[in-house]
Amino acid sequence: LTPEAALVDSLIASIPDFPEHGVTFRDLTPVFADGPALKALAEALTAPFAGRFDYLGGLEARGFLIAGAASLVSGAGVLSVRKAGKLPRAVLSQEYALEYSTAALEVHVDQLPPGSRVLIVDDVLATGGTALAAVNLIERAGWQVAGFAVALELDGLGGRAKLEARGIETFSLLKY
Ligand code: PRP
Ligand code: HPA
Repeated sequence: LTPEAALVDSLIASIPDFPEHGVTFRDLTPVFADGPALKALAEALTAPFAGRFDYLGGLEARGFLIAGAASLVSGAGVLSVRKAGKLPRAVLSQEYALEYSTAALEVHVDQLPPGSRVLIVDDVLATGGTALAAVNLIERAGWQVAGFAVALELDGLGGRAKLEARGIETFSLLKY
């Protein structure tokens, strides 16, 4: 592990049986609470894509924290990719599957200039349903996905395969 990856790794909490029995939940709130770790995370996620993106795409809610930090280290602004019903102007909406239901992500249709290159960032990649919905939204809006950068990739849940099948360059700082 790089020093940045080791620092982030040392702060991730693993919570047995949350949100349900048999699931081990990886909690990144201690990373967000540590200033140097949050900055190191933001630098590590943006460095591989340096010069290749114009905006960060922040996925509500935890992705917003990373996108804000990444904005300050890279100078790029943030595209707000919000859960359904929160944005006040005309939106594009993309549904995705949850375990027992569906949810939707939305962006303002006119938020960015056509062709803008968006680096999507988030805390955890699991099934990839959320990330793929964001990819679909950004492409439908007429922007380009520069890549997907995530603090922690949970191996074996199919997230990376879904993104790479769509040709999305995927970078994770850590893999569990
Ligand atoms: C979590 C996490 C990712 C997503 C990963 O967000 O922050 O966005 O799930 O899961 P997936 O790869 O299977 O889609 P959640 O939907 O819990 O929302 P939150 O950030 O508002 O807590
Ligand atoms: N931690 C945080 N977010 C998640 C997880 C997890 O273990 N699994 C799916 N989303």
